[in-house]
Amino acid sequence: MPNDERLVNEQHLEPLMPHPEGRALRAEVDLGRIARNLDRIRTASGGRGIWGVVKANAYGHGAVPVSRALEDAGVYGLAVSSLEEGLELRRGAIECPILVLGGLRPEALPAASVENLTIAVVGPEHLDDYARALPQHPVRLHLKLDTGMGRFGLLPSELGENLPQLQRLSPWIEGAMGHFATADDPDSGFAQRQRRTFDACLSQLADAGIHPEQRHHGNSDACLRGMLDQDTHVRPGLALYGLTMVAEGRALGLEPALELVAEVARVKAMPAGTTVGYGRTFVAPHPLQIATLACGYADGYRRDLGNRAVVGFKGRTFPVVGRISMDYLTVALPLDVPVAPGDPMTLYSGDPAAAHSLERLAQTLGTIPYELTCALHRRITRRFLP
Ligand SMILES: Cc1ncc(COP(=O)(O)O)c(C=O)c1O
Repeated sequence: MPNDERLVNEQHLEPLMPHPEGRALRAEVDLGRIARNLDRIRTASGGRGIWGVVKANAYGHGAVPVSRALEDAGVYGLAVSSLEEGLELRRGAIECPILVLGGLRPEALPAASVENLTIAVVGPEHLDDYARALPQHPVRLHLKLDTGMGRFGLLPSELGENLPQLQRLSPWIEGAMGHFATADDPDSGFAQRQRRTFDACLSQLADAGIHPEQRHHGNSDACLRGMLDQDTHVRPGLALYGLTMVAEGRALGLEPALELVAEVARVKAMPAGTTVGYGRTFVAPHPLQIATLACGYADGYRRDLGNRAVVGFKGRTFPVVGRISMDYLTVALPLDVPVAPGDPMTLYSGDPAAAHSLERLAQTLGTIPYELTCALHRRITRRFLP
């Protein structure tokens, strides 16, 4: 890649510098809640070591501050998706183990070794290259086994023919890992099959003299639902952020850590019959006020929430009306509600029971909360509460 292209990319990844007089849209991230969620997950997981999953900018919450909070709260290690995400954490002075879940091309091993990253081996294709490179560029390896997710990992059928190469890598193999495809499914038949496959793979490795000291197969839902078996470690992501899709998560008292808040940019009183926004999809049924907020689909607020979501204001909720545009959305309020430019409105609430909680909005959209938080653009100011 030419140098100038790399520069453009790096600049693109940097969050915008917030300015006190700038765009009034912020994600407020409560790091204390994340630390408490970690404690609760630790208890639910029987004290197993926790690889906290902070990929995708900590699910949109802010990778480095969240990682620092987790490190201070005693997380065992952090899991990211790519080399770049691992390097971002090291640049942010994160010192605990960092596991790169998405694997690594052999050419990148020197960089990973210098930064003391732990690498998931996600397939058989580079085992020989790894064996050649690791004596000079050592990294710890976690062997990913495809027990039923069908993406990354060695298939059980590939294990036998690759045992000689894995034996050569054995001094560096610290862990073995799988990933549940259906940990949220009350009918746990497939998860049990994955577990049996994992156990069979580990026995095959043990027979070949390969004894990873760590084993981990569980994401958040597996932690919350006690599907951990003989695992030494767990890999929760969503639950750390206080979001969950299973009842056990709420019962554990997980607290959502993120609120999305926008200040009102403009307020207008409108007569009945006025239409609002592109396509004129909202027609005022009676005189009302329209508050415009500087948050749109470019910020990650989904376009299909127009005419479907509500926002929180002064203890009440009010409907988002009209289409969401790139940088703005519009809220309808009765004429007797005092509202002025600068007033804060909550777009994503930290109260899981609220109609504008991330889980409820995700349900409305037929998606999962991950998609909504991961989509929060880096141009949104993150404000971190201790
Ligand atoms: C390999 C792997 N492990 C763990 C997790 C964490 O999953 P969750 O956020 O559901 O806890 C993910 C997330 O997608 C993942 O890809």
